[in-house]
Amino acid sequence: MSGGKTLAIAGVFLVLGVMSLIGGESDSPLKPIVITPELKEEFPLKSHHAKLSFECTFCHVGQGDDPKEFTYIGDEGCLSCHQSKEHMAERLAFMDKLHVNPHNSIHDGPTLYCDECHNEHKPSTNMCTECHEHDIDLWMRPTP
Ligand code: HEC
Ligand code: HEC
Ligand code: HEC
Ligand code: HEC
Repeated sequence: MSGGKTLAIAGVFLVLGVMSLIGGESDSPLKPIVITPELKEEFPLKSHHAKLSFECTFCHVGQGDDPKEFTYIGDEGCLSCHQSKEHMAERLAFMDKLHVNPHNSIHDGPTLYCDECHNEHKPSTNMCTECHEHDIDLWMRPTP
C-alpha cells in the first residue's frame, strides 16, 4: 500500500470518527424526555421541592433520556443548588449550641453524605438514630 493511500484511508476514518462524535452529542439532547403522570406518581418529590415545580432533569442532569434509567444524584447533585456542606452547616448553626447540628456532626463535622439522612422519592431517615435512638426526637425535627 502506498503512503498516499494510507493517508487517504486514515482521513476517511478521521471524518467518520468526528461525524460519529457530533452525531452522538446531538442525539441525546434532541430526543425529548417524556415524563408521564405515572412516572410523576412513581417518583414523587418532597413537598419543599414539589412546590417549586421542579422538573426531573433539574436533579437528574446528564443521565440520558430514559427516566426509568435515572439514578441517585449524590452530594454533587444536592450541592449544585444548596452550595456546600459548610453552607448547610451554617443554616442550622443554632443547633451547634447543643452539639446536635445534623449538618455539623459532633463526630464528623460537615462531612456526612446527604443521603445518609435525606431521600427524595421515599421517606427520609436519620443516621444519628443508629446510635441515639432515644435522643433524636429531642435533638432535631424529622429529616425533611
Ligand atoms: C435544582 C436545585 C435544587 C436541587 C438539585 C436540590 N434542591 Fe433542595 N431546595 C432547592 C430550593 C430552591 C429550595 C427552597 C429554598 C431553600 O430552602 O433553600 C430547596 C429546599 C430544600 C429543603 C427544605 C428546606 C426547608 O427550609 O425546609 C431540603 C431539606 C432540601 N432542599 C434538600 C435537598 C437535598 C437533600 C437535595 C439532593 C437530593 C436537594 N435538596 C437538591 C433547590 C434544590
Ligand atoms: C445526619 C443527617 C443529615 C445529613 C447527613 C444531612 N441532613 Fe439536611 N437535615 C437533617 C435534619 C434532621 C434537618 C432538620 C433539622 C431541624 O430543623 O431540626 C435537615 C435540614 C435540612 C435543610 C433545611 C435547613 C433549614 O434551614 O431548615 C436542608 C436544605 C438540608 N437539610 C439539606 C441537606 C443537604 C444538601 C445535605 C448534604 C450536604 C444534608 N442536608 C445532610 C438531617 C441531615
Ligand atoms: C430534587 C431532586 C430530584 C428531582 C427533581 C427528581 N429526582 Fe429522581 N432521584 C433523586 C434522588 C436524590 C434519588 C436517589 C433516591 C432517593 O433519594 O429517593 C433519585 C432517584 C431516582 C431514580 C432511581 C430510583 C432507584 O430506586 O434507583 C429514578 C428512576 C428517578 N429518580 C426518577 C425521577 C423522575 C422520573 C423524576 C421526575 C418526575 C425525578 N426523579 C425527579 C432526586 C431527584
Ligand atoms: C456509630 C454510632 C454513633 C452515631 C451514628 C452517632 N453517634 Fe453520637 N455518640 C456516639 C457515642 C458512642 C457517643 C459517646 C457516648 C455518649 O455520650 O452517649 C456519642 C455522643 C454524642 C453526643 C454527646 C453525648 C450526648 O448523648 O449528649 C451528641 C450530642 C451526639 N453524639 C450527637 C450525634 C449526632 C447529631 C449524630 C448524627 C449526626 C450522631 N451523634 C451519630 C455514637 C454515635
